[in-house]
Amino acid sequence: MCGIIGIVTGKPVAGGLIASLKLLEYRGYDSAGIATMQNGTVWRERAAGKLANLEHKIKDHGVKDGGIGIGHTRWATHGAPTEANAHPHIIDNVIIVHNGIIENYAELRDELLANGADIKSDTDTEIIGHLISNQLKVESNIETAIQTAIGRLTGAFALAIMIKGQDDLLIGARKGCPLVVGIGDVEGHYIGSDALALSPFSRQIVYLDEGDFVFATKDSFKIFDQNGQSVERDVNIVELQAATMDKGKHKHFMAKEFFEQPDVVQHTLAHYIDLKSNTIKLDDKLDINKFERIVMVSCGTAFYAAMVAKYWLENTVKISVEIDVASEYRYRNPPLNSKCLFIVVSQSGETADTLAALRLAKQQGAVTVAIVNVPTSTMAREADIILPTFAGTEVCVASTKAFMCQISVLATLSIGLATSLGRIDPAKATAMTKELTQLPRLINDCFSIEADIIKLAHDISKVEHVLFLGRHTSFPIAMEGALKLKEITYIHAEGYAAGELKHGPIALIDEKMPLIIIAPDNEVYEKTRSNIEEIAARGGDITVFTSKSRAAEIRKLGLKAIALPDCSSFLSPFVYTIPVQLLAYHTAVHMGTDVDQPRNLAKSVTVE
Ligand code: M6R
Repeated sequence: MCGIIGIVTGKPVAGGLIASLKLLEYRGYDSAGIATMQNGTVWRERAAGKLANLEHKIKDHGVKDGGIGIGHTRWATHGAPTEANAHPHIIDNVIIVHNGIIENYAELRDELLANGADIKSDTDTEIIGHLISNQLKVESNIETAIQTAIGRLTGAFALAIMIKGQDDLLIGARKGCPLVVGIGDVEGHYIGSDALALSPFSRQIVYLDEGDFVFATKDSFKIFDQNGQSVERDVNIVELQAATMDKGKHKHFMAKEFFEQPDVVQHTLAHYIDLKSNTIKLDDKLDINKFERIVMVSCGTAFYAAMVAKYWLENTVKISVEIDVASEYRYRNPPLNSKCLFIVVSQSGETADTLAALRLAKQQGAVTVAIVNVPTSTMAREADIILPTFAGTEVCVASTKAFMCQISVLATLSIGLATSLGRIDPAKATAMTKELTQLPRLINDCFSIEADIIKLAHDISKVEHVLFLGRHTSFPIAMEGALKLKEITYIHAEGYAAGELKHGPIALIDEKMPLIIIAPDNEVYEKTRSNIEEIAARGGDITVFTSKSRAAEIRKLGLKAIALPDCSSFLSPFVYTIPVQLLAYHTAVHMGTDVDQPRNLAKSVTVE
């Protein structure tokens, strides 16, 4: 994940920038750079590869330090990890670093080129710099110019900006990607991707809200919200130790990890999508032509990720996909051979049953793939092919962001394999890939339902049982919703395929039985709606998670509806995971259970 640091103290900042970038290394990166400014003169150094390369260049060329500076570790999204694409970018008077993906980058780039812009890099960041630079030519108020230019961006991003000639002005903006402000322990102000990056300089941290802008000088700072209104945000005291395991402004790791989802999904997708061509980058070793079937094995939440993928893979790759929980799979003596692509999905990469299944598959000659979050884990070491997720450390026992990254990888895999086999129209593959790039913004938009979910959570906290229902890819999301709720609230919850209800569970329904029905506006919406009406006729206490465009008709039935952003059927598992995670979280908070370390559970289940 890209890392951002900005410092304004009026004293030399280069050493501080490098120290901070070192603390951001854990996020992963493939190039780095810093820029400082003094008396309007900008000095910049960038290097591909590790920070040591940047430090060598600085040593060789000599530091020309300044009292304000910005630095960046870049995880390549638009454009290769070259020095030319490394940040900071300088466009006229604008010096900028960026984390995120600008979705309308292609349109903005075309517009800028048509107006004669000289675009030097392949990055979307440079486009932002041009927009700001152009706006500064027609608008003398820097704050307004920045807000207007950034207002044109669609996507998720965090930015740090300097303007030539403004030696005492450090600018930050965030939408979808995290950015914090630090009040210097000794002097000055800082902005950074997280509190850890600022820990050498500041214990007083302000977590910017969605859409916020910050304009900092060495002596003061002001924050504007997304409507351009001046706002105050709380100052939090964060000790270094806490910064290492930083919960940010959240009470629990689960909330922190939940809100990181736009960011980590973006970084995971960046690894698998060539954003310039909107094509999928597949591991060369993954020659799908060799395989007759796919087997996917995992546990818990990771199993539900595999369940979602079964729908995608069978539909797009048109290959038979078998899924099973690892604890069953490993003892049922399943036939495997070298024509089988065997995929395990695991956050930890250490789950005993999943690991045993992986070893079994290897013994039988299957080609093994591990979709894992911990790159040093046993599964990552033992599988033939690793498809990493980039969720970062997941501390909360209940998995949130790891699941979202697992389905991100599996979505790209479905398109990639279908393309390799020529089983998808290339235009459709491009369109689906493009849709995936909208996910960081879409997930971010889903966060607006939180107030509605809190109300629902208060009701759910009073009940003993909950049924979650869904069809198609919403069925595994219903299962995941039930798992999440029971693990952290201890309320009994079950997930069912909506169409299966009448084969037994419908007997449970009376006015005391709460049901959460996941009904995106997709190809099975009408079928799910029929199920909703069957349950309503029997007096069930129904809440429907549906799209904005369908919410009104559900409410007309006299039922509760929570409206999610409209999205395609393909993206619906991502969107509808948000409300089920939030519901579990807020119910647990309301009930006062141990959200991050629920009773009886372990983060990594390394025993059978
Ligand atoms: O580390 P893994 O992904 O292999 O773990 C699998 C399950 O133990 C895990 O998903 C578990 O179900 C979580 N507590 C769910 O929130």
